Amino acid sequence: MDIRDLTSEHLDDVLDLRRRSFGPLAADSREKWRKAVLPTLAEGRYLGVFDGSRLAAAARLRQFTQWWHGRPQPMSGIAGVTVSPEDRGRGLGTRLMRAVIERGAELGDAVSALYPATTAIYRGVGYEHAGAQHNVRLSAEVLRGIRPSGQVKLRRMGPGDGAEVISVLHRVHGSARASGPISWDERTWNLWLGEEDDFLYLADDGYAVYRWKGGDLEVETIAAASPETLRALWALVGSASSVAREVVAAVAPDDPVLWLLRERTKEQVTQVRWMLRVLDVAAAVERRAYPVSAACEAVVTVDDPIRGGGTWRLEIAGGSGTATPVQESGVTLSANGFSALYAGIPVQTLRLSGLISGDDRYDQALETAFAARPYMLDYF
Ligand SMILES: CC(C)(COP(=O)(O)OP(=O)(O)OC[C@H]1O[C@@H](n2cnc3c(N)ncnc32)[C@H](O)[C@@H]1OP(=O)(O)O)[C@@H](O)C(=O)NCCC(=O)NCCS
Repeated sequence: MDIRDLTSEHLDDVLDLRRRSFGPLAADSREKWRKAVLPTLAEGRYLGVFDGSRLAAAARLRQFTQWWHGRPQPMSGIAGVTVSPEDRGRGLGTRLMRAVIERGAELGDAVSALYPATTAIYRGVGYEHAGAQHNVRLSAEVLRGIRPSGQVKLRRMGPGDGAEVISVLHRVHGSARASGPISWDERTWNLWLGEEDDFLYLADDGYAVYRWKGGDLEVETIAAASPETLRALWALVGSASSVAREVVAAVAPDDPVLWLLRERTKEQVTQVRWMLRVLDVAAAVERRAYPVSAACEAVVTVDDPIRGGGTWRLEIAGGSGTATPVQESGVTLSANGFSALYAGIPVQTLRLSGLISGDDRYDQALETAFAARPYMLDYF
């Protein structure tokens, strides 16, 4: 078995693998998938495992931007991990994931994330539970109670507005010092913005993407950088309450809309978990932002059999950090442990679950510096 980049001639075989893994795909979904995937093949973002000329497994590295404490960095989002049924349970998926991790690092990404259908395979190669997509179920009537204040001009968006949406996201996630949310690249945005069944509205400092789902509404994203725009976009969704009974919305765990609701008692939230892996310790530490008031000097050893690992002195001050290789000993973390720390999982959680061990003198400083409540609005 050898691992190679996929080319356009393999796409039918990949579709066959996907059908055997996730079920049948309708003809128009297959066409959309081809259109989205084709341009990425030359970028080395789709790997296949071959048994001679037969495709036995495949995985895709999607190109995302991810914000950590409000600072954007490139991220490899892993999707479409599929092993053909007759080849499963023999370590092929793990071999493929190791190659995917190396490829993500070669492409220059310091972090990678994925939504797992099952955890063991990803944990085994250093991914760890980091955050979730939080889907809250609200009554449309409660949203109708949100009155727009001020004059916010909303316009319908379409293909060609990708660059503007991305620039809005930079403002929104930067000012909220958000951790975890992602943006698609401009090409993908422009494909999405052509979906005729999505309702797409843009303001100067925010946007909404929502659609019908059965007799209810599904809000994919409402992002806003000002109170006026936040109200205007949610009021837009609430205006459907004469027809829609419920709205399922992807929100941040402390999304401001939840503080605009007149009634809030028992809440139904479904969390779809995602995992994170740090691919390059020094670059990941430098690309993340931290609370301006946090100051941390710590020596960490990351045990990473795939990427090599090592010992680094972390110096975090004034909202930024560096990691310099050193020959000392400090606190020890597995690749999983460091990835979870990076995502803001409390140090005590990491200690009790065995993801961090040894020297505890840096625990408090590390926890304060990396503190985060990571989430995503988008599923991939
Ligand atoms: C999930 C999948 C990619 C695993 O590939 P594989 O080649 O069988 O995996 P490996 O043999 O390398 O096994 C790796 C680990 O995953 C575990 N694993 C494999 N299949 C599993 C399953 N269906 N459920 C739970 N765990 C599973 C193995 O037990 C092993 O764990 P261990 O090391 O603790 O024993 C493959 O079963 C598949 O294609 N499934 C259908 C599509 C899918 O779910 N893809 C994942 C999308 S996120």
